[in-house]
Amino acid sequence: MAKLTLMTPGPVEVHPRVLKAQAAPVASHRSESFRELYREVTEMLKQVYIGRGLVALVSGSGTTAVDSMVWSLIEPGEEVLAVSNGVFGDRLASSARRRGAKVHVLRKPEGQPIDAGEVAEVLDELKPSAVLAVHNETSTGYAARNLRQIAARAREAGALVLVDSVSGLGGEPLEADSWMLDAVASASHKCIAAPPGVSFVYLGERALEKLQRRESTTPPSLDLKLSAEYSRRRETPFTPPVTLLYALREALKMLLEDGLEARWRAHLEKAKEVYEAAARAEASPIPPPEYRSATVAAIHLKAPRAKEVIEEVRKAGYLIAPGMGELREQAVRVGLMGATTMPQVRELAHHLEKAIKLHCSR
Ligand SMILES: Cc1ncc(COP(=O)(O)O)c(C=O)c1O
Repeated sequence: MAKLTLMTPGPVEVHPRVLKAQAAPVASHRSESFRELYREVTEMLKQVYIGRGLVALVSGSGTTAVDSMVWSLIEPGEEVLAVSNGVFGDRLASSARRRGAKVHVLRKPEGQPIDAGEVAEVLDELKPSAVLAVHNETSTGYAARNLRQIAARAREAGALVLVDSVSGLGGEPLEADSWMLDAVASASHKCIAAPPGVSFVYLGERALEKLQRRESTTPPSLDLKLSAEYSRRRETPFTPPVTLLYALREALKMLLEDGLEARWRAHLEKAKEVYEAAARAEASPIPPPEYRSATVAAIHLKAPRAKEVIEEVRKAGYLIAPGMGELREQAVRVGLMGATTMPQVRELAHHLEKAIKLHCSR
């Protein structure tokens, strides 16, 4: 069977240059060549995060990075505020709850904007120690374009800002330091376009201070305090996926060769193709226009026929995903991340339009 082109919201198509890099021999993680690899990867990641803090490498998928951020920076019993309008916002809240925090959730309907003013009102009332937010809500194709304003309000209220940018970093604009984001979790297999298996957390100055003050312990594999200590010698506490880090290094080089802002624009142009195709088929994206993601297009269907639409698109050689949660049958999601080209995106958009017209018109 011919290989399907991955246009799901991750994992994504990986460039042959990156796959080739992964095939290099395994180095010891206590060797000088590993320390150089560590230095290059973390320095490049800091350019992508646009921050002067520290990047901790985590072995595992995006969830591991998010959990390590939450478990390392929140202590049991702390009051925190999670803002959510989708599945991944709810997962952030759930991770903090499992950590033993008292979690308050400001919940909006799927894909509907979270207003910074409203967040500020809740902050005044609660005075939480942290605010948890998703930069790019993959379940509904929602880009939190007002994240900077939300973070500013949180900073005024004295709360740390912990962000899940698993499907945003490298594809949707984000500036960790100037937006006052204290910690940002992300992963290799979304906009960075490397294979899955490595993830990372950006730690700003205030997050690093919090790690120093922390009194509770965490499982060692999730402990960013330990990672921060080991980072001084450019090593990870435990055996990292060395060959995936070769691939990540190459993918980051490719990203920076293109330029971060050029990548942001390219994602937007690809997303536009899909949004326009959906509009021609009279299907509309879940979020309102100004919050439609450049990295994941989530299209609400008039009829609950996601399965049929996905199957039709699959016949043309492309793999896309259904909605999540309650929207599983009522929406399809297209990933605009990874090494797919503009002609491929146009072809997919053409087949998507045809499939929606075929299965969802009244
Ligand atoms: C916003 C967001 N957070 C967390 C995750 C979890 O990542 P993973 O499936 O790599 O564990 C995903 C995955 O799609 C995501 O999109």
